[in-house]
Amino acid sequence: MASKPPSITFLILMFFSITLTLFVLSMKPKSVTNNIFQLDKRKPPWFNVIEKNIDNKRIKVGVVNINPRLKFDDIGIYEQLNALYPHVETLSIDFDHADESLKWKDLFPTWIDEDEKYGHPKCIDLPMPIWESYRDVNVVVARVPCEKGIKDVFRLQVNLVVANLVVESGWVMKLDSYQPVYVVFIGTCSPTIEIFRCDDLLFHESGEYWVYKPDLVSLRHKMLMPVGTCQLAPGYAEKGKEVWRGNYISQSATILKYYTIHVPNLAYVTVLHSSEAYVCGAIALAQSILGNNDNNYYTIDLLLLADDSIGHESIKGLKSAGWKIKHIQRILNPFAKKGTYNEWNYSKLRIWQLTMYDKIIFLDSDLLVLKNIDHFFAYPQLSAAPNDLTLFNSGLMVIEPSMCMFEELMNKTLKVKPYNGGDQGFLNEVFTWWHRLPTKVNYLKSFEGNNNNEIIHEDLYVMHYLGLKPWMCYRDYDCNWDMRELHVFASDLAHKMWWKVYDTMPQKLQAYCRLTQKMDERILQRRKRARNANLSDGHWKIKVKDPRRKRYNNVNFRI
Ligand SMILES: *[C@@H]1O[C@H](CO)[C@@H](O)[C@H](O)[C@H]1NC(C)=O
Ligand SMILES: *[C@@H]1O[C@H](CO)[C@@H](O)[C@H](O)[C@H]1NC(C)=O
Ligand SMILES: *[C@@H]1O[C@H](CO)[C@@H](O)[C@H](O)[C@H]1NC(C)=O
Repeated sequence: MASKPPSITFLILMFFSITLTLFVLSMKPKSVTNNIFQLDKRKPPWFNVIEKNIDNKRIKVGVVNINPRLKFDDIGIYEQLNALYPHVETLSIDFDHADESLKWKDLFPTWIDEDEKYGHPKCIDLPMPIWESYRDVNVVVARVPCEKGIKDVFRLQVNLVVANLVVESGWVMKLDSYQPVYVVFIGTCSPTIEIFRCDDLLFHESGEYWVYKPDLVSLRHKMLMPVGTCQLAPGYAEKGKEVWRGNYISQSATILKYYTIHVPNLAYVTVLHSSEAYVCGAIALAQSILGNNDNNYYTIDLLLLADDSIGHESIKGLKSAGWKIKHIQRILNPFAKKGTYNEWNYSKLRIWQLTMYDKIIFLDSDLLVLKNIDHFFAYPQLSAAPNDLTLFNSGLMVIEPSMCMFEELMNKTLKVKPYNGGDQGFLNEVFTWWHRLPTKVNYLKSFEGNNNNEIIHEDLYVMHYLGLKPWMCYRDYDCNWDMRELHVFASDLAHKMWWKVYDTMPQKLQAYCRLTQKMDERILQRRKRARNANLSDGHWKIKVKDPRRKRYNNVNFRI
């Protein structure tokens, strides 16, 4: 096929474009031909934020997980930094990549040998840089990986490298404060919010970078914790020693001395919402905390958050039991079905709003304190006892209130769909890097097999009454026995422990634990069914002597 001669229009266009190109070339020949190979000499966009805050003549920048050989974009970051030499000295922080086969559950095992029957439980070490080579950086620039989700070992490793680098470089007193170290996270992946607190965020350019100025005391505190929950924190709370607001307490110092150095504001907090069914539980809880108070040196508040469903009469009792009261609006779980038991469970998130406290130990109202737990305030956010898999139980938590964290949590309630629909599921999606408290600090009353009484340790700190609550049963026996599917929660021994606390309560407080006729009828019905099923444990045969049956509650509880 013969080719057509080019049309006149085409020739004219050709002519113009060639002249234009020649013209441009003659004006700025290099920029057109060599553009791609030219050094990027722009200041990094985040540099202004840093420069405003640092007056050093020379700024040392440590670079973490930014690797031009793996990621083309990363060339630019080095070029921009190199262009600032000698004002800025850049060094790449070397460390070995964590073993690819490591899984999150290796760092967050369900069970560990807490009693050290087989020796001290060990954690798998994540490789860290050789710190001696990298002290005294002023800025750390890092890229966090997030392609594999937030329960990714390498993501944690990068965060820990950055955090430790900050501590190694910044943990030097200059005048009256620590040498600040700034952190810049490049890209779209946010750092681990448990390690880099929103309180320390200076600037965020969406999709580009975050700039942090971490609080060194808080960060160092966290870096003293194990990498995961593979071991208990090294003796922290047990011995009443801690690093807290910059006051390192030496081995010989007593807790008394410490509290005279800095008196932190601490509180035990619980929440009641949606019904008055747990008022009695909260009263017993307060009594159990106060009954185990063995110090005269400092005070720890007892604060109860209550929504509108907790009536005047109940509030009176709760106050008299020891709680200070704060009224709240309950919080809706947007993913819960209307009218379900967990529809308002996010009300618990309000504890982050209590910024008048440095730290809080949150307790559900179906917990009972058996031994003083004040020293567990030494742990950082978020510390809790294990539940199952890699998860913690949200019935008892050490947390640090923060308005921006509350806001962040509220934002997340709209996006994160929790695994079990409750606050525990939600919080475990957010706080994936948590610290292990001993099981005996939140002992879940739940038993496999037939050892429902034996398993309970003598040195328990806190019992968590899963299943039907003691005050909803007769005091004669644990009514979880009345239903086969609840046998796993049944323990007469644990039941007795609760009633022992009840017996120490003043009569006017015991009144809040009275049976209602409705509760009584419900128990009788279950007993009848247990008898018909001839349940082999035989608790349905017990002749009930509970005196509460004779004195129903005439106050109309809203249950
Ligand atoms: C929460 O979301 C709002 C609206 O999208 C946003 O303006 C705010 O910055 C977010 N807050 C936090 C702490 O993420
Ligand atoms: C939600 O709260 C209710 C009542 O406060 C409690 O019985 C229930 O266990 C909670 N559910 C979850 C999943 O946390
Ligand atoms: C109930 O169970 C016991 C043994 O647990 C048995 O001896 C008895 O015959 C059973 N009664 C009925 C009515 O099935």
